[in-house]
Amino acid sequence: MVEPTAAQLSVDGTVLDLEVERSVEGNDGIAIPRLLADTGHVTIDPGFMNTAACESSITYIDGEAGTLRYRGYPIAQLASQSTFLEVAHLLIHGELPSRAELEALAERVARHMQVHDGIKNFLRAFPRDAQPMAILSGAISALQTFYPDSVGRNVEEVERASVLLLAKTATVIAYLQRRSQGGDYIEPHKSGTDYVEEFLRLTFAPQDGAVEVDPKICRAMDLLLILHADHEQNCSTSTVRIVGSSQATMYASVAAGVSALSGPLHGGANEAALHMFDEIKASGDTVDTFVAKVKDKSEGARLMGFGHRVYKSYDPRGAEVKKVADEVLRELGGNVELFDMAQRLEEIALSDEYFIERKLYPNVDFYTGLLYKAMGFPPSMFTPLFALGRMPGWIAHWREALTDPRTKIGRPRQIYTGAQERAYVPMDARG
Ligand code: SDX
Repeated sequence: MVEPTAAQLSVDGTVLDLEVERSVEGNDGIAIPRLLADTGHVTIDPGFMNTAACESSITYIDGEAGTLRYRGYPIAQLASQSTFLEVAHLLIHGELPSRAELEALAERVARHMQVHDGIKNFLRAFPRDAQPMAILSGAISALQTFYPDSVGRNVEEVERASVLLLAKTATVIAYLQRRSQGGDYIEPHKSGTDYVEEFLRLTFAPQDGAVEVDPKICRAMDLLLILHADHEQNCSTSTVRIVGSSQATMYASVAAGVSALSGPLHGGANEAALHMFDEIKASGDTVDTFVAKVKDKSEGARLMGFGHRVYKSYDPRGAEVKKVADEVLRELGGNVELFDMAQRLEEIALSDEYFIERKLYPNVDFYTGLLYKAMGFPPSMFTPLFALGRMPGWIAHWREALTDPRTKIGRPRQIYTGAQERAYVPMDARG
């Protein structure tokens, strides 16, 4: 909803009447379509701290209140009552599925969990100890070569690509884990399976594929995937949207999102946080000593799993993880000592002026690594698990941008600060 001339901007004597785009909830936006033409100026906003790239109806976050809703449903309700596949349907299609719709999605995904031999050979081409996120991005982009009937932008092909990405990403990640542990692939069952349970079977079953998946691990995994499923315009989702804006395929766009997610400031933070706990323990430092190092900044130490661009209060996802962490860690024989240390770290940080004035709180990555490790995943697999959870969000945003009539190819401007015009100097004339 746009309100004409609800804002004004005066630049070098030129007064611009600007329109304000009203949100349903949260920040309104000042539209500046004539700024460059009328004033010769662009805006500059590194990291897009104050800049909306689009309208979206998928996820709402209130960073001050610690609110997170997928399509209007509070994350705490989805965490306690929903399943990952149901949340995937909700994010992608905008509504909770009927029982028949959910069963149909589950069957369709189960039918497509197998991957082509070419993808298996692709995964085998890399060292077993390779960084899995570097492989995952390539595997996801390469998937499209085996399913050319799913790279179009029509409804049928977009729906087919959505299902294939949900189904096959789980299998690829399971295979990456198996290879990293010296194992080889086992084939997915083609029907009648629960998505998360089948992912865990593909990941942890012995080579004969026979394993009883612990229902507690299955529930914990389903919860963690729900908590990671979307988060509005985060770095990786914005990457998916801008790559998709060039009309690149959904596979290529999501593969770019995987690369963005791999950074330790983003999805790599869950692995970095566990590494931080291990380092503190190995160093013999007290938690207080480590916090002092973080505040001192001298060694560039950061409290990984803390802080957030949007949340200036407790990340509601972190709160949901912490709620189950104690129980899951004890049931799975996880490292309760590290969990206790993490809680001590949180307690100190939340009472320290340095963190309070910067509004730094635990985010979704602070405790998740402890749970993933207790479930049997090596740290290198933590960020691929984040990618598995985020897949429905990436798909939903790619599809939303595809159908948004205002979507244009993403092409930001710049403030040029380089050399002004100068003549070429032939080699012999150079000093
Ligand atoms: C995710 O955007 C999303 O939605 C992301 C995500 C999603 O679901 O997609 O929620 C997932 O990426 C969560 C964040 C995971 N990353 C980490 O846990 C890494 C540690 N945190 C940070 O590096 C940092 O907090 C960010 C990257 C998350 C946010 O960075 P900002 O918003 O750019 O803030 P900043 O770096 O400018 O920091 C502001 C101040 C600085 O101090 P001063 O210069 O004012 O003195 O806070 C300090 C920073 O040094 N600070 C930290 C800190 N985070 C910020 N100091 C110590 N430890 C930290 N973790």
